[in-house]
Amino acid sequence: MNDYRKAARRIVNARYCTAFTGAGISVESGVPPFRGEGGLWNKYDPRTFDISYFKANTAASWTAMRDIFYELFGRVLPNAAHYALAELEARQLVREVITQNVDNLHRDAGTHVIHEFHGSLKQILCLACGRKVPVAKVDMNRLPPQCSICGGTLKPNVVFFGEAIPERAASLSFKAAEKTDCMILIGTTGTVAPANMIPAKAKASNATIIEINPCPSEYTRRVTDVFLKEKATTAMEKLMEEIDKLVTE
Ligand code: OAD
Repeated sequence: MNDYRKAARRIVNARYCTAFTGAGISVESGVPPFRGEGGLWNKYDPRTFDISYFKANTAASWTAMRDIFYELFGRVLPNAAHYALAELEARQLVREVITQNVDNLHRDAGTHVIHEFHGSLKQILCLACGRKVPVAKVDMNRLPPQCSICGGTLKPNVVFFGEAIPERAASLSFKAAEKTDCMILIGTTGTVAPANMIPAKAKASNATIIEINPCPSEYTRRVTDVFLKEKATTAMEKLMEEIDKLVTE
């Protein structure tokens, strides 16, 4: 049996299948990954996204964020892999999606049950009063933007280095990892904690781990049961074909 067939069988027969995604699922939408070829960390100093740097150099940090997050990421659209996951949710074959991505593309593709482990660019947080506002309401022409209510410093509601994971997203993600019996990992290196503990938790709960990535990751040897060594869109298209064959057989 080929690996796509094997993966499709595990998904169709799963009691509670979930997905865990990283930057790689959005690469074919035009979102650069963090690491590797064309990675953001080759162009920008990761310290720009450290909370202490942000507090001390708010304007400089905002300039980098506007260029990356709101100009570059702002123009991108979901790809076939995001749509395939939304379709699997609609068919009740995937129950929850946990993502490390902040680009909103799973929501744009129509996924409803999603835990944004590293937050979302679509929301801006006031560090002084805690108010959250949609990004469309924030004027990016004058940086750094300030809270219209209290004048406090605004920051994208995404997790910077040195910050905690949002409590609700963390708790729901780890609960999903305990509950799932099949987890599909797409486009993630497995190098960033605590997010990388989620597939390990699923594996410890006896879930089958299906991994999609053109390159082996930290997960491949440690937790993966079925490795689909391919780009996200091609792999998801092949997987959907196999799922369709199985459900019509
Ligand atoms: P990385 O940028 O570290 O890794 C991207 C992964 O995607 C690699 O394993 C690539 O091989 C794979 N990849 C590249 N192109 C792909 C494609 N077309 N299809 C499928 N996979 C592809 O991204 P993450 O592991 O997700 O944290 O990074 C984790 C965290 O590191 C991010 O969420 C971010 C960063 O620091 C925060 O912002 C807090």
